[in-house]
Amino acid sequence: MTEIRTPTEDEREQIGSVMSISLNFGQAWAERRAPTFRLEQFLVAVDDGRVVATSAARPFLQWFGGRTLPMTWVYAVATLPEHRGGGLASELVTRLMRRGREEGALISALYPAAVRPYRSIGYEIAGTYTDHRIAISDLPQGPAPLRVEEYRTGDLDDVRAVFREVMSTQNGPIYSELEDWWTERILATREPDVLFRVAVVRGENGAIEGFCPFRYGKGGGGDFDFAFGIETAHLVARSEAALRSLLAYFRGFRGLGESLQWSGPPADPIALLIEEQKIRTAWTFHWMLRLLDVPGALEGRGYPPVSGSLDLMLRDPAFEEDDGATYHLEAESGKVRASRVERAASAVASIGTFSSIFTGFTSPADAVRVGALQADGAAVEFLSALFAGPPPWLPEWF
Ligand SMILES: CC(C)(COP(=O)(O)OP(=O)(O)OC[C@H]1O[C@@H](n2cnc3c(N)ncnc32)[C@H](O)[C@@H]1OP(=O)(O)O)[C@@H](O)C(=O)NCCC(=O)NCCS
Repeated sequence: MTEIRTPTEDEREQIGSVMSISLNFGQAWAERRAPTFRLEQFLVAVDDGRVVATSAARPFLQWFGGRTLPMTWVYAVATLPEHRGGGLASELVTRLMRRGREEGALISALYPAAVRPYRSIGYEIAGTYTDHRIAISDLPQGPAPLRVEEYRTGDLDDVRAVFREVMSTQNGPIYSELEDWWTERILATREPDVLFRVAVVRGENGAIEGFCPFRYGKGGGGDFDFAFGIETAHLVARSEAALRSLLAYFRGFRGLGESLQWSGPPADPIALLIEEQKIRTAWTFHWMLRLLDVPGALEGRGYPPVSGSLDLMLRDPAFEEDDGATYHLEAESGKVRASRVERAASAVASIGTFSSIFTGFTSPADAVRVGALQADGAAVEFLSALFAGPPPWLPEWF
């Protein structure tokens, strides 16, 4: 019989093995990482005394419309090849969703290696991860307006404050106050033998204006086999001077340093500082999201100063108690109240489609055009105004 539960200490190795077999992470990865798994975040399926499927979720905050929503991020979803197709992954993730909801998460998100298992439990494509790349020789010339220095431990609070200031103007970035997220994930690398540094930009008064944790990646060939490309997930600057300073700092790597690659919004404003169209998309991938608590998520995010109202019915394949529920949305100058009502709705969608509209990824007019939203012109206009904003994106890949 298959049992679903939180794993025990002596199952670390088995979790590592299921993940490395399913996700092609390799044996060395499993051995290195197994002792660091946060077991309380995991749910596993155990069959005949062996772990055959894994899943995990950890809490974050995620910005939408200038406010953060409690979110549960699903990861480590893997089923051994011999146990696939029996519904284990769906069952595990559905239980993680319920657990997240009980703990106060209003939304849940994940990176899908395959879309179908998640779409069938209410997630939909709802945001973008994008790696941009430019040749270092194409970075702007000239000196850095501000000082760029190596990060010191005492800078953590200032770095987090700059991150919050910049990301709160965006839709989609995630945030965690948990120390390990910053000290082990953002400001350090867990990969062995990778050269890694963190640069900070200091303003006139010594305050931090920007930062960039980066690694030396592979170069593109050429004369030297020790040539490299700079890779970063966080090229974060709160002012033009700070951004120009980081770009000037990286221009100083030219020669052996061939390229700068960073993850940013799909339409990255860095392009405005580059003389020609030299930024290329190196890689892009979508993340999925679903609302776990519809009224809570609607009331929790920020909006433009829009007024109007709508009755919306949502189909939910995962939460039986919510399937087919109608919600009344009332917006007054960007303040939204949402409640369940018992009456016929004027707009209908799946929870997934509505989640994708909620993040600003899918426009309501497009959703109508592809048959994913049934709504009249007035409803489309209201929803379009409500969820207007910068396209949703995330800087981290994990
Ligand atoms: C993806 C994976 C976790 C699915 O595990 P599983 O236990 O077989 O999943 P389920 O049985 O719950 O399948 C749920 C649905 O997704 C579909 N599905 C499963 N694996 C799929 C895949 N690789 N591609 C497309 N659809 C898939 C199933 O057919 C099923 O659809 P249905 O409900 O319409 O019949 C498993 O195939 C796996 O470990 N793959 C390699 C690792 C990976 O890709 N993990 C996901 C990381 S985000």
